[in-house]
Amino acid sequence: MSALTAVDVIRTKRDGGVLSDDQIDWVMDAYTRGQVADEQMSALAMAILLRGMTGPEIARWTAAMIASGERLDLSAVDRPTVDKHSTGGVGDKITLPLTPLVAACGAAVPQLSGRGLGHTGGTLDKLESIPGWRATLTNDEFIGQLRDVGAAICAAGAGLAPADRKLYALRDVTGTVEAIPLIASSIMSKKIAEGTSALVLDVKVGSGAFMKSVEQARELARTMVELGGAHGVRTVALLTDMSTPLGLAIGNGVEVAESVEVLAGGGPTDVLELTLALAREMLDAAGLSDADPQVALRDGRAMDVWRAMIRAQGGDPDAPLPTAPEIETVRAEADGHVEAIDAYAMGVAAWRLGAGRARKEDPVSAPAGVVLHKRPGDRVRAGETLYELRAEQADRIPAAMAEAAGAVRISETPPVGRPLVIERIG
Ligand code: URA
Repeated sequence: MSALTAVDVIRTKRDGGVLSDDQIDWVMDAYTRGQVADEQMSALAMAILLRGMTGPEIARWTAAMIASGERLDLSAVDRPTVDKHSTGGVGDKITLPLTPLVAACGAAVPQLSGRGLGHTGGTLDKLESIPGWRATLTNDEFIGQLRDVGAAICAAGAGLAPADRKLYALRDVTGTVEAIPLIASSIMSKKIAEGTSALVLDVKVGSGAFMKSVEQARELARTMVELGGAHGVRTVALLTDMSTPLGLAIGNGVEVAESVEVLAGGGPTDVLELTLALAREMLDAAGLSDADPQVALRDGRAMDVWRAMIRAQGGDPDAPLPTAPEIETVRAEADGHVEAIDAYAMGVAAWRLGAGRARKEDPVSAPAGVVLHKRPGDRVRAGETLYELRAEQADRIPAAMAEAAGAVRISETPPVGRPLVIERIG
C-alpha cells in the first residue's frame, strides 16, 4: 500500500509547495487507473493553475503522462521523422498542405491530430469532409503509411498518453485549460509518445488563440522546447499571429479546398507564407535543410503526396467537397480599408454555423463555415462582399451573423501590417 494520498498531494500544491517525483508519479498513475477521483484531480489541476509548477515538476509531470501509455517506435521508418503542432487557431489549416509538402522534401511526417472544440477547428474534422477518408489507423498501418507515403495524419490511438486524454476532458469542464504547465505537458506528452525525432511548434498569439499575449506565448513555447529537448526530441517553436484568421476559409470542407489551392501553387499569401516558414523549420530540424519546399510545391510533388496520403486512408482526392445550401452574404456599408478581422469572433461564427462542436460527441457539418472575401489591408467599397456565412440549416445563420457583426473593422486609412511570424524560440 502506498503511503501517499490524493489529499496530501493537493494540499502540497494548494499551499504553494513543490511536488516530489514520487507524488507526481503516484498521482498520475492512480488517476489513470481510476484510483484518484475526478474531483481530486480537478482540485489538483486548479491548485497547479493558481500556484504554477517549477521546471523539474513540469518535466516529471510530462514523463508521468508519457509513462501512462505506450511510446511508439518509429525506427522502422527509414527517413528522418519530424512533426508539427499548432496550439490551435481560427482558419488554421496549415497541417493539411504542410504534412505532404515536408514529406515530398524527404522527411516522414507522423501527424497525430485532434478534433476541434469550441471556436478552434480540428484537423481530423476538416479531413473528414473528404468523401471516404477515415481518421483511424492501427499503429502498424500508421508506420506502414509513413514508410510508403511519408505522411500520415490520423487520430491518436487510445494507448497514447491516456492520462492526458482523461485530464484534458476534466480541465475542459473545470476552468483549468489555461495553465501553462498543464498545456505544455499535455501537448508534449502526446508528441513525445508518438515517437517523432524532431518537432516544430506553432504557438499562436492573439484573440483567436489560447495565449492572448506574446509574454504568455513565449513562456509556453520555452517550456515546451525544454520538455522536447529533455526527452531527446529536437524542438523549436515559432510564435505566430492569431489575431486575424489564417487565409480566407474558416470551417471544414472550405479549409480543405483552400489547402488544395496551396498545394496547387496558389492560395492566400499568409497561408503560403506560414506553410513555407514551418516547412523550412521542419526540414532544418530533420537535417534536410538543402531541400527547397517552394520547389516541391511548384513542381507538383507536394500535391502527389497529398493525393497518395488521402487515398491511403480511403479518401477520394478527386471527389467534390460537400456544398452548403444556405449562404448569407455580408457587405461593406462604407468605403475604406479593412483594418482588422477578429479571429475569435469569426471562429465563434463558424462554430455557430455548425463547423465546430459544443460537446465532444457532437457531429460537425462538412460544408458549414465562413468564407472571407477581404483581408486586413484590402481596400473595400460600400456594397462589396466582406464575407459569406455558409450553413446546412438556415436557422444557424442569425446566431452566426450576431457573432460576426463588428468582426471586420473598416478604417479610412490603410492599417500598419503585422508580421505573421513574431519570434523563433529554440
Ligand atoms: N492542446 C492540447 O493538446 N492540450 C492542451 O492542454 C491545450 C491544447
